[in-house]
Amino acid sequence: MAQKNNQKNDDVDIKVIELEDIPGVGPETARKLREAGFSTIEAIAVASPSELSTIGGLSEGNALKIIQHARRLADIGGFESGEKILERRKSVKKISTGSEKLNELLGGGVETQAITELFGEFGSGKTQICHQLAVNVQLPEDEGGLNGSAIIIDTENTFRPERIIQMAEARGLDGNDVLKNIYVAQAYNSNHQMLLVDNAKELAEKLKKDGKPVRLFVVDSLTSHFRAEYVGRGTLADRQQKLNRHLHDLMKFGELFNAAIVVTNQVMAKPDQLYGDPTKPVGGHIVAHTATFRVYLKKSKGDLRVARLIDSPHLPEGEAVFRITEKGVEDTR
Ligand code: GTP
Ligand code: MG
Repeated sequence: MAQKNNQKNDDVDIKVIELEDIPGVGPETARKLREAGFSTIEAIAVASPSELSTIGGLSEGNALKIIQHARRLADIGGFESGEKILERRKSVKKISTGSEKLNELLGGGVETQAITELFGEFGSGKTQICHQLAVNVQLPEDEGGLNGSAIIIDTENTFRPERIIQMAEARGLDGNDVLKNIYVAQAYNSNHQMLLVDNAKELAEKLKKDGKPVRLFVVDSLTSHFRAEYVGRGTLADRQQKLNRHLHDLMKFGELFNAAIVVTNQVMAKPDQLYGDPTKPVGGHIVAHTATFRVYLKKSKGDLRVARLIDSPHLPEGEAVFRITEKGVEDTR
């Protein structure tokens, strides 16, 4: 059986446990579970016995046994010493957004081992910031980068290599070299989107050996497939449960590889809504609880954008104004 290594240290070999490593899960059951979006042992560990038995074609008793094995393997809900948490926190790094003001708002930049959710209406700059981070993560540390590579799950076909080249060249980098270190996958539906996180682990292990560790994992957009596929009240709970699992997988990735997780979430401005906070996306509560940093983006005059940090436990609330120009994300003059 593959051995789990929860060390977050960079020079430690990471061994990912496969579904087939769970006692009682054969190749056929594993295939069915993966198809349904249960792609990691963590996903199995938090599933309900009835859900698992239906999907995997198992008796409830067997499903329960599998869940119990998965929980032990995944180390779900275990305690960690404060010392160990401090050790992990010490390896947290930050990626510059391109704007000092925005970095300041985030406590220095976009953090590794954390999920940053960019939310806002269309054209508010979510995708532009993702592109910029994919360039900046490649810079040396003293220039705001982490000498790393980037993985992007693109669900709306909005990744533009030409824009990457433009942003890279504005920072004196070779555009094609920068593109080589950005790995993009199109997700065709929400299950595919979840599976891609698994594939990303394999890629990340290889890149780590090659000396170009993944330090940024983007999902742009996190929610579009889930929104489109789960319509109607009855399916809302299912949707949230799956989104929760997806975010959990992403968080795990961030901790394993010391990578920043950046997800986008489009929210509609509701001009007809007089009451209620427009920065609270309807049905977005699970995303809200899992994301470590929630950044609300708003269009302003011309190329100006306003970012506001929402519900951050350890950073002061505030706003940052920045610009999106030909060069990318920049401070205002
Ligand atoms: P949705 O995905 O539709 O929800 O929007 P988004 O929040 O991802 O918006 P996005 O990041 O795509 O921002 C689009 C805006 O960025 C445009 O309206 C432009 O203002 C700006 N922008 C995008 N590309 C360029 C470019 O090549 N040059 C310049 N100067 N601005 C750009
Ligand atoms: Mg976008």
